[in-house]
Amino acid sequence: MAELEIRNLYVRAGEKEILRGLDLSVGLKEIHALMGPNGSGKSTLANAIMGHTGFEVTEGQIIFKGQDITDADPDERARMGLFLAFQYPVAVPGVTVTKYLRTVLNAHRETRGEEPIALKEFRQSVEAAMQLTSVPKEFSGRYLNEGFSGGEKKRMEILQLVLQRPEMAILDETDSGLDIDALRVVANGVNAVAGPDMGVLIITHYQRILHLVQPSHVHVMYQGRIVKEGGPELVDELEAKGYGWIAEELEAAA
Ligand SMILES: Nc1ncnc2c1ncn2[C@@H]1O[C@H](COP(=O)(O)OP(=O)(O)O)[C@@H](O)[C@H]1O
Ligand SMILES: [Mg+2]
Repeated sequence: MAELEIRNLYVRAGEKEILRGLDLSVGLKEIHALMGPNGSGKSTLANAIMGHTGFEVTEGQIIFKGQDITDADPDERARMGLFLAFQYPVAVPGVTVTKYLRTVLNAHRETRGEEPIALKEFRQSVEAAMQLTSVPKEFSGRYLNEGFSGGEKKRMEILQLVLQRPEMAILDETDSGLDIDALRVVANGVNAVAGPDMGVLIITHYQRILHLVQPSHVHVMYQGRIVKEGGPELVDELEAKGYGWIAEELEAAA
């Protein structure tokens, strides 16, 4: 059974219908890439999966761990083990990195019926995660995302991913605007946590990150639907040919 299953999803934002009958399944252990030209609806899908209030599901279902979460609130989805790294991370004034990470970790532990993490254990986990993601130590005392560079924000997100180990990680354009070092950090983080207990959905317009994190499944989105699926070889094909041929193929088939 797929861990995350999107069935015939229609989503609109205001008057605009963006997703139009989208189907997608991601299982544990699998790394999926969702690719597609700008404006095809990739971020809308990420937002709909997380329950962003600006997006209305008018038809179809989102199933996570066998449960219909189409109408669940965002907090509940996150507590169930869905994780989204945002394309444009926001600053949280007045909350330090350490405090934020501890709060998030404890919220997840509470959901699983566990005690809050002991301070010593927390420090050790954060230190290990920071090492893995090359986040400098002095970050822990800073306010979340305030004055962080693009690369630093991404490192923070990956740090959170590594600590949290969600069951389903969705990364929306995590590679956009990153230099190669920051991109490696992101890729190393994803590769370090991906495994038998996690599914990963990497959403990207570019191929760059997919050379560092090997997807097992590749989906191509166009005008609100998945129009092509395949294995990692599809990444190379898109790199060589761009997206134009997909539109042509669709038109020829219509
Ligand atoms: N909140 C919104 N209100 C109206 N239109 C939106 C909104 N969000 C996205 N769109 C439109 O929906 C389309 C898909 O956007 P998006 O999901 O961001 O695509 P992608 O991430 O693939 O670039 C675009 O035409 C975009 O302008
Ligand atoms: Mg986007």
